[in-house]
Amino acid sequence: MSSRHSILALASLLLVAQAYAQTQPRDHNLTLTFTSFHQNVGTNISFSMRDRPIPSTGTCFNLTDVFGNSSHSQPYVTQNAEQFSPQNNYTTFFYKQLNETGLAVGKDAARVVKMWPYENCRSTDFSPWYGLSCQSEGSAYNMPAGIKSFSVVDRWYSNNEDEGHCWTLAEDGHSSAACTSFQGCFVAMMAAALAGVFLTM
Ligand SMILES: *[C@@H]1O[C@H](CO)[C@@H](O)[C@H](O)[C@H]1NC(C)=O
Ligand SMILES: *[C@@H]1O[C@H](CO)[C@@H](O)[C@H](O)[C@H]1NC(C)=O
Ligand SMILES: *[C@@H]1O[C@H](CO)[C@@H](O)[C@H](O)[C@H]1NC(C)=O
Ligand SMILES: *[C@@H]1O[C@H](CO)[C@@H](O)[C@H](O)[C@H]1NC(C)=O
Ligand SMILES: *[C@@H]1O[C@H](CO)[C@@H](O)[C@H](O)[C@H]1NC(C)=O
Ligand SMILES: *[C@@H]1O[C@H](CO)[C@@H](O)[C@H](O)[C@H]1NC(C)=O
Repeated sequence: MSSRHSILALASLLLVAQAYAQTQPRDHNLTLTFTSFHQNVGTNISFSMRDRPIPSTGTCFNLTDVFGNSSHSQPYVTQNAEQFSPQNNYTTFFYKQLNETGLAVGKDAARVVKMWPYENCRSTDFSPWYGLSCQSEGSAYNMPAGIKSFSVVDRWYSNNEDEGHCWTLAEDGHSSAACTSFQGCFVAMMAAALAGVFLTM
């Protein structure tokens, strides 16, 4: 009888665990590291989030708030926040995001990330935003205009903006030429190379 009880207990525990997993989707940490340079010396500040952001509490993050204010309601942690200064120009960032289920580098990640040149997730015609939504083991990118805010949206709520091809570094959300197949990429690459040749002739 006790073993039957423990099986029941185990079964209900599994159900609870499953329900929890469904309400609290988890993935490997999303890590964003922002680097500012002063006399060629880089300073890194870092943001890590294991859960997906809770949409009701906002999906836009100002660097000033994330690194300058330790009290917040989103499930993330920071590193080196004491090194943050609103005067610094964060022009390089490092992006790492991997799925827990469906782990595949270069394929759809669980969250859609955007990097913005102004606070409150704003951009202009001259200073675009950049979208990243592919799984990556970690890559560094430059954003010369500097980063003032970023947004993180659960893929579930992202309106399929990147449908068909997740973003590697999509300026204003435009993916670079139709590189959905190797052939397409190769043709685009050759065309670009030839154009380069003609331009220099
Ligand atoms: C992953 O993020 C969580 C917070 O969401 C944090 O507690 C944990 O330390 C992070 N792990 C790593 C390896 O960054
Ligand atoms: C820090 O964040 C908390 C919670 O979001 C907010 O109430 C408070 O006003 C913030 N403080 C500053 C200095 O921005
Ligand atoms: C800052 O991060 C980059 C990669 O994200 C790394 O190459 C570099 O060594 C880091 N610098 C410091 C000072 O930690
Ligand atoms: C990664 O996880 C997200 C959220 O569960 C899912 O939508 C996406 O399809 C997964 N990626 C792959 C390649 O399975
Ligand atoms: C970001 O900063 C701007 C300017 O200080 C402020 O108006 C806005 O409420 C902040 N956004 C978030 C999501 O905290
Ligand atoms: C950051 O630096 C770049 C180039 O060094 C410059 O164009 C940009 O205006 C700077 N941004 C800020 C906010 O200082």
